[in-house]
Amino acid sequence: MGKVAVAFAAAAAVIVSCSVAAVMVGRRVKSRRKWRGVVEILKELEEACDTPVGRLRQVVDAVAVEMHAGLASEGGSKLKMLLTFVHHLPIGTEKGTYYALHLGGTYFRILRVLLGGERSYLDVQDVERHPIPSHLMNSTSEVLFNFLAFSLERFIEKEGNGSSSSQRELAFTFSFPVKHSSISSGALIKWTKGFEISEMVGKDVAECLQGALNRRSLDMHVAALVNDTVGALSLGYYHDPDTVVAVVFGTGSNACYLERTDAIIKSQGLLTTSGSMVVNMEWGNFWSSHLPRTSYDIDLDAESSNPNDMGFEKMIGGLYLGDIVRRVILRMSQVSDIFGTTLSMLSEPYVLRTNSVSAMHEDDTPELQEVARILKDLGVSDVPLKVRKLVVKICDVVTRRAGRLAAAGIAGILKKIGRDGSGGITSVRSRSETQMQKRTVVAVEGGLYMNYTMFREYMEEALVEILGEEVSQYVVVKAMEDGSSIGSALLVASLQS
Ligand code: BGC
Repeated sequence: MGKVAVAFAAAAAVIVSCSVAAVMVGRRVKSRRKWRGVVEILKELEEACDTPVGRLRQVVDAVAVEMHAGLASEGGSKLKMLLTFVHHLPIGTEKGTYYALHLGGTYFRILRVLLGGERSYLDVQDVERHPIPSHLMNSTSEVLFNFLAFSLERFIEKEGNGSSSSQRELAFTFSFPVKHSSISSGALIKWTKGFEISEMVGKDVAECLQGALNRRSLDMHVAALVNDTVGALSLGYYHDPDTVVAVVFGTGSNACYLERTDAIIKSQGLLTTSGSMVVNMEWGNFWSSHLPRTSYDIDLDAESSNPNDMGFEKMIGGLYLGDIVRRVILRMSQVSDIFGTTLSMLSEPYVLRTNSVSAMHEDDTPELQEVARILKDLGVSDVPLKVRKLVVKICDVVTRRAGRLAAAGIAGILKKIGRDGSGGITSVRSRSETQMQKRTVVAVEGGLYMNYTMFREYMEEALVEILGEEVSQYVVVKAMEDGSSIGSALLVASLQS
């Protein structure tokens, strides 16, 4: 090769290596810019979900104010504050065998309890728990109730010959809003949590179940129609009469509490039998401008089966947390290729479930293998560790907000009933020292609370932050496993005794 050719070859080599380097630098700059875009999205999310204690206190006040408004007049607030006609809760002296059927958001349960007349003699037998087949959620009321009656029939068949010869008393725990006309009857107000059987709205729920049981010639009597929160309160009260509030953190979320009948202004004259009644708040529908709402919440709501409805539930309910996280990841994957370039399932609504969020959030392996596995299941493979850490952070931000808002909800109820140490916003009587320091038990039930440790910890930590160390000592949060179903059966027992 001549000198000239060598020089050309050398020059070409220099040009090639320069352009390779330039491409690489360019790529790095681009990828750094993309990473910055992702970090920006995270920062925005953190800011939008921020819940300093001052903001939580504003939510607390708003809850208490809305509770008053909902009790004052029908439709006076987004909080429906529904009457339950439950004036007395089980006290521990109940006897006999009772059944409960619980239609929740994701599962249905059937169980039998045996009561021996003493608190310590509560025998919960044969708890059956099954996922609700998804086709039932938008079928017809007939299909749904026939399915429930069929499941009950199978449950009874398994009891064998030793079973009772008399009519069985059944509690129907129904985890949806109902306008009660008595403890054992009430019309469905609306579906929540993705159920969509529109012809059922307005129908008497207990009557529908009783009809289906009769069609199968099952000798069972629907003795009470009970919201899941009321079931949890019943079990809480059975074990500890200081229990005055119950909250469910599951697929959906809600709370009930024991209210003085004279405070239920919208129903004066109707309520004569006792000094108090359990009120089902339906707090999932609570709304306040103080709630920290993000663009992801707005989109989730708009694309849900019940837009403009259940705003609080959509920030704290187990059905929704996974989908908020999914939306954030999807957004990041649109501005950068950190989640890969191949098509993933990230754009499929509800594909990321909250139990996966909890598994990722609580992944304590050094390489975050659980996060990698769950992302892989969503079609996102080989993400580097720093991206996996980012996903954990998103789970943390969304769940922290949920836990802290949940605590504000509870503190709002405590404020309304004068158990938050501030004396409440109306009752002068409750300002006395003794009332302020009364021990108050809050019964809590639901898969989100039971299974998602970080949610539980954030909730409990924020409750102490809001109430202060001193008052918090008097507020006991007690988990009630299967409380909604067991407690409803106890409620039926208390009606018989
Ligand atoms: C329902 C409530 C129920 C709560 C928890 C909400 O979607 O409206 O009635 O108590 O979920 O299951």
